[in-house]
Amino acid sequence: MARDEPRQLHQQDPQGMRDLILRLPQMCDEAWQLATKATLPRMAPKVIVTLGMGGSGIGGDLLRAVLYDEAPIPTISVKDYRIPASVGRDTLVFACSYSGNTEETLAGYDEALQRGAACVAITSGGELLRRAREREHVTIVIPGGLPPRAALPYLFLPMLGLLARLGVVASYDAQLSEAVQILRQIGAEQGSGPAGLARGLGESLLHRIPVIYSASPFLEPVAQRWKDQMNENAKTFAVWNTFPELNHNETVGWGVDDVLAKTLAVVLLRDRHETIQLTRRVTITRELAFQKAGSVQEVSTTGEGKLARLLSLIMVGDLASWHLATLRGVDPTPVPVIEELKRRLAKSG
Ligand code: PA5
Repeated sequence: MARDEPRQLHQQDPQGMRDLILRLPQMCDEAWQLATKATLPRMAPKVIVTLGMGGSGIGGDLLRAVLYDEAPIPTISVKDYRIPASVGRDTLVFACSYSGNTEETLAGYDEALQRGAACVAITSGGELLRRAREREHVTIVIPGGLPPRAALPYLFLPMLGLLARLGVVASYDAQLSEAVQILRQIGAEQGSGPAGLARGLGESLLHRIPVIYSASPFLEPVAQRWKDQMNENAKTFAVWNTFPELNHNETVGWGVDDVLAKTLAVVLLRDRHETIQLTRRVTITRELAFQKAGSVQEVSTTGEGKLARLLSLIMVGDLASWHLATLRGVDPTPVPVIEELKRRLAKSG
């Protein structure tokens, strides 16, 4: 079995998605370096806006989660062709597109330019890089050749590093070091072998619909990332939601038929810094609503700082989605439906 392992791995994962997930700590270090080298936009922003879709959009959601109770100015994560009416000369816009060719992001970027916003483009190339260079905007050029979702550190951390250099927030250097160390540990523990949390999660989600709930709004983008990775790596349907909001609607939906409820596999994403109000809600909701679920599991963040907590849980989710893909016998890397959709849109435009 051990001798056959590399061959089996190659058959299951010919383009090496597992290795990309395991490179997360190294990518975090590299992404941080990009921020230290980037030119600073000359301004003191009053609003931060991130533009990005899918794998290039989750970085903006993570940025908002980190800055929410720290930055004196708001962060708005935009996933649309249109940008908020408030965008103007005192707005700092991060336009993020891995390929550089995503039409929603390009439309928002063009609009931001017309409004006189300061713009930073984060991309591996494409039209976004071309336009940014032509406009002499700050560019952060990230490594190419990856599936966008596997490039998450490059599409998140440079924004934070740059904002720290601008003085919008304090330095995150120490938090980044903690996060990298924890991600390395997770990779060593969960990355290979038949046992482990991520593999167990993958097994429990097989033949079920993953229902990913973040126990706190801070972990909301992590819940979304888990859902997205279940979709794109494991090619399966999944949903996500967050406490406390889900207590005001979705909790009632657990009145669903017993047969349907058995197909739902709840994964609760917990955080040691979750407030007592949220902990109480999760406990009561488990009793009231999840009794009929096919399974209920809890997975917790690791570490103290926000970066470690967010990224540790993301890495476990990425690995779980990879295991689910291999158990389902699907190649985790290609996303042909997204590509076909983009092709058809380009043709019809
Ligand atoms: O994972 C994916 O491939 C998608 O979610 C893409 O990230 C999304 O379609 C946006 O494309 P890009 O990341 O190139 O801007």
